[in-house]
Amino acid sequence: MARTFERALVVGASSGIGEQLVRQLVAGGTRVAAVARREAELRRLAGELGDRVSIHVHDVRDYDAAPATFDRIVDELGGLDLVIYNAGVMPTIDEHEVDFDKDRQMVEVNLLGAMRWLGLAGAWMEARGAGTLAGISSVAGDRGRRGNPGYHTSKAALTTYLESLRNRLSRYGVTVVTIKPGPVETDMTRGMKLPLLIPAEQCAREALSHMRDGAVEAYVPATWAPIMTVIRMVPSFVFRRTNI
Ligand SMILES: NC(=O)c1ccc[n+]([C@@H]2O[C@H](COP(=O)([O-])OP(=O)(O)OC[C@H]3O[C@@H](n4cnc5c(N)ncnc54)[C@H](OP(=O)(O)O)[C@@H]3O)[C@@H](O)[C@H]2O)c1
Repeated sequence: MARTFERALVVGASSGIGEQLVRQLVAGGTRVAAVARREAELRRLAGELGDRVSIHVHDVRDYDAAPATFDRIVDELGGLDLVIYNAGVMPTIDEHEVDFDKDRQMVEVNLLGAMRWLGLAGAWMEARGAGTLAGISSVAGDRGRRGNPGYHTSKAALTTYLESLRNRLSRYGVTVVTIKPGPVETDMTRGMKLPLLIPAEQCAREALSHMRDGAVEAYVPATWAPIMTVIRMVPSFVFRRTNI
């Protein structure tokens, strides 16, 4: 039976896929706490969607501030049925560029922020024996491609973290869903030439459907499942000579 979510938290809610997740959850009757840094974007969203959305300005790299913000959201909504970690960054990396600050930012936002927020939410749900956690990972986590080592590493680690959470929490009634989108039209991919690009609205719609079904791991769109099965099988000595 499909899950229904009365109260949700979306981390990374101010644009792109996260904004669409908030819009679609609210349209389905869910009350949503929206977390991100850009207050003006969050206010715009709340202004449009009304009092079903509350906004919380927060930088996920401020790890010490997360518990108080999480507790405030739980109090405000009277609990949580769904927590989605969507925050992510992918700075452009040139062919010969090595920039530790960019690598650090990707690990801090894409991975450590997820561990902080999903760790808090997972413990809260475990104590209550119910709830759904979801992480927006990526097809980029399936192989270490040449273009952006820091991004691929952060998403591979996020995928593994989500699997560990699932194995830890499923016996306590908590569902953990890993979403692996292919390229999506958002600020992150603006100006890039990418295959099978889909709108953020479609990505959010398919991702929410997988969360309602309690899927384990889902590619969005599903076309990526057979493609990534083949890409994962390409031997390293061949893969390193390609541009995929
Ligand atoms: N676009 C794609 O092709 C694609 C494909 C696969 C996976 N993904 C993943 O999908 C997720 C959403 O990306 P998007 O494409 O929708 O890009 P986006 O429009 O740039 O959205 C990124 C979101 O992350 C938030 N964020 C970034 N740094 C943050 C920080 N330090 N603290 C709090 N929030 C932060 C942003 O909010 P603020 O800037 O307001 O803080 C924004 O809400 C990311 O995890 C990305 O890796 C994207």
